[in-house]
Amino acid sequence: MQKTALVTGITGQDGSYLAEFLIDKGYQVYGIIRRSSSFNTGRINHIYQDPHEPDPRLKLVYGDLNDASSLNKIMRELHPDEIYNLGAQSHVMVSFDVPEYTGDVTGLGTIRLLEAIREAGIKPKFYQASSSELYGLAQEIPQKETTPFYPRSPYACAKAYAFYIVRNYREAYGFFACNGILFNHESPRRGETFVSRKITRAVTRIKVGLQDKLYLGNLEARRDWGYAPEYIEAMWLMLQQPRPADFVIANGECHTVKEFVEEAFGLLGLDWHKHVEIDPRYLRPAEVDTLVGDSSKAERELGWRPKVQFKELVRIMVEADLELAKKETHMKNYRQG
Ligand code: NAP
Ligand code: GDD
Repeated sequence: MQKTALVTGITGQDGSYLAEFLIDKGYQVYGIIRRSSSFNTGRINHIYQDPHEPDPRLKLVYGDLNDASSLNKIMRELHPDEIYNLGAQSHVMVSFDVPEYTGDVTGLGTIRLLEAIREAGIKPKFYQASSSELYGLAQEIPQKETTPFYPRSPYACAKAYAFYIVRNYREAYGFFACNGILFNHESPRRGETFVSRKITRAVTRIKVGLQDKLYLGNLEARRDWGYAPEYIEAMWLMLQQPRPADFVIANGECHTVKEFVEEAFGLLGLDWHKHVEIDPRYLRPAEVDTLVGDSSKAERELGWRPKVQFKELVRIMVEADLELAKKETHMKNYRQG
């Protein structure tokens, strides 16, 4: 029988890749979207193209992680076999501006989903998008499943609540629920205010003459950056195991933001010193200095291993954004006649 999957956050970077992945595996996919005054389905339009003749393997339903009644209704009606909770206010810096809202969506949104499952009396497998931000002020290097958490932002604190409530429902009610502790993963679909995409958008726009400066914050922060489409497979693999568990998913290599900048500018033959300036507005009240993960448990138990390494990731993103910047130039020239 065809399996059904419900995805929160389907309009985001990961949700869009997961939708493609599950459709390829033969799933009927349901995605929860929020009402917005402008279209927010840009990342899934290629699947869900024509509103008059949408792909029947992806169906979108309105709902919100802040709205329990919508989640209860969705569970009662859809009875999904698998649920992937990717929806979140996912920006760390923004969480300092809207801490309560972030706690509500990113933390309490998870309990609303789990309770909706209980109330509907269904037994889906559940994936929670946990984060390497949980390690924050890292207590050991590299970080693995047993490393103590030390969250450093309202976002990370909300994710800590979600992590523990998922584990609690596994232990208390026998839920098949897994936390994927994913380290940073990027792609050409990454939101443009995250540092990787901010850099690749800027360097390519500088190359074609659409902008001159790139304003950044802390260039010394170190991250373990991987390629998003590969990380999606790990989410699915967790739910195919005989027993639920939590897994670190990472590349195991860490680089500074400055190295990302150097690599991206170097690929296009540009000197970053002429274009990059530090803007204190992008410095965080509490920074996470170094994240680097050890995903040997995932390799052992899931057979998952990353392939795309740092330099190739930067190249993939720069090449995609260069195409975008060229299109922007054509549009600009066209408008100017
Ligand atoms: P993203 O691009 O920011 O997408 C977030 C998604 O959540 C969007 O679809 C957004 O919908 C949705 N959303 C926001 N508020 C919501 C609400 N109140 N109700 C329902 N949906 C809501 O994030 P991502 O990079 O794909 O990450 C996916 C998940 O993994 C997130 O939970 C993130 O915190 C976590 N994570 C990400 C990384 C990473 O490196 N990418 C690493 C570890 C963990 P709209 O389009 O309507 O805004
Ligand atoms: N966004 C941003 N913008 N970050 C900057 C900038 C800037 O102009 N300049 C320097 N940085 C630094 C940040 O201070 C941080 O140390 C690092 O670049 C990465 O920032 P982001 O790309 O915003 O990602 P993040 O690591 O804070 O959070 C992402 O990864 C987490 C997993 O570790 C998000 O996707 C989270 O949702 C995810 O949980």
